[in-house]
Amino acid sequence: MKFPKFRARRLRTSEGLRRMVREARLSIDSLIMPYFVVHGRGVRREAKSMPGIFHFSIDTLIEEVKEAKTLGIPAILLFGIPKAKDDLGSESYAKDGIIQMAVAEIKAHVPDMVVITDTCLCEYTTSGHCGIVRNGKVINDESLELLAKIALSQAASGADMVAPSDMMDGRIGAIRKALDEANFSETAIMSYSAKYASSFYSPFREAADCAPRFSDRSSYQLDVANSDEALREIRLDIEEGADIVMVKPALAYLDLIFRAKEETGYPVAAYSVSGEYSMIKAASSLRFLDEKRIVLEILTCIKRAGADIIITYFAKDVAKWHAFN
Ligand code: PBG
Repeated sequence: MKFPKFRARRLRTSEGLRRMVREARLSIDSLIMPYFVVHGRGVRREAKSMPGIFHFSIDTLIEEVKEAKTLGIPAILLFGIPKAKDDLGSESYAKDGIIQMAVAEIKAHVPDMVVITDTCLCEYTTSGHCGIVRNGKVINDESLELLAKIALSQAASGADMVAPSDMMDGRIGAIRKALDEANFSETAIMSYSAKYASSFYSPFREAADCAPRFSDRSSYQLDVANSDEALREIRLDIEEGADIVMVKPALAYLDLIFRAKEETGYPVAAYSVSGEYSMIKAASSLRFLDEKRIVLEILTCIKRAGADIIITYFAKDVAKWHAFN
C-alpha cells in the first residue's frame, strides 16, 4: 500500500492509538538492580564515579533490597568488595566472604527476591585480573577450578543464580559440572557470554576497586570490533549449560543483542554498564539531557533490540517513575 492510501501518521494521532501499536515495552519484570556490598555496619557510601550508587554494608543493604522488592524489582545482582586481596582471591570463595554472608542475610530477610551473584576474581585478586596470574599471564585452566569453587560457595550460601563474568574458556561447563555434582542442579547460570573489553567499565572499576594492576583485559574479553566471535562465545556457553546469555555493554552493542536473540532464541540479558549510567548522570546534571526521558528511551531501545532482561543501575529509578505500562 502506498501514499495516499497508506498514511503512517494515522496511527500516531493520539496517545491511545500510539499505545495500542507500540511494539517494545519496558517492564519492571525485566529489570535487575546491581549492588555493591562491603564489610562493616551502617555503611552507605556513595561511589565517586557513580553518583546515586552506594556501597552498602549488609545491614543497610537489607533495607535497600526490601525497598527494591516493594517497588516490584524481581532480581538483584551482587558485587562484593573484600576486606583484603590476595593472589588467589581467597575471600571470593570463603564461607564468611562478604558475598556469602550478604546472600544468606538477604535470603533470610527478603526470601522471594531473586539473588544473582557476580562470579569473578578481579575484586579479590591483588592483580585485579579475572583469573590466576603467573609470569604476567592470566592462566585459563587453573582459574576454572577457582571459579567453580566461587560459584559453588555462592550457591551454598543461597544464591538463586550465578553470573560468571571472567571470560575464561570453559568456565560455564566447569561451573555447571561443579554445581550439579554438589546437588545444586537448580542453581541457574547467567553467563556474561559476550563481554567486551570496553572502556565503559571505568566507573565500575573505581567503585569496585578492581582495575587490573598491569596490562588490561583484552587477552580474555572480546575485541569491540567483533560480532561473529561473540556469537561463537554465546553458542559455546549455551552448549556448556548457560541458562541466560548476556551481552555487555548494551547501548553501543545493540546489534549483538539483536543477533543473540535472533540466532539462539535463548533468554538474553543486556548489561547497561557503569559508563552508560555515569554518562547519563553527568550529562543530565549539566542539564544537557533530561535524565528520566533519556533513560526510558535507552532502555526501551535495548528491549526493542531483543533483550529479555536488562541489568541497569537505574532499575530502582525506573520502578519509581512508573512512566511506562
Ligand atoms: C567483573 C565485572 C566488571 C563489570 C561487571 N563485572 C568489570 C570488568 O570486567 O572490568 C563491569 C560492570 C559495569 O561497568 O557496570 N569482571
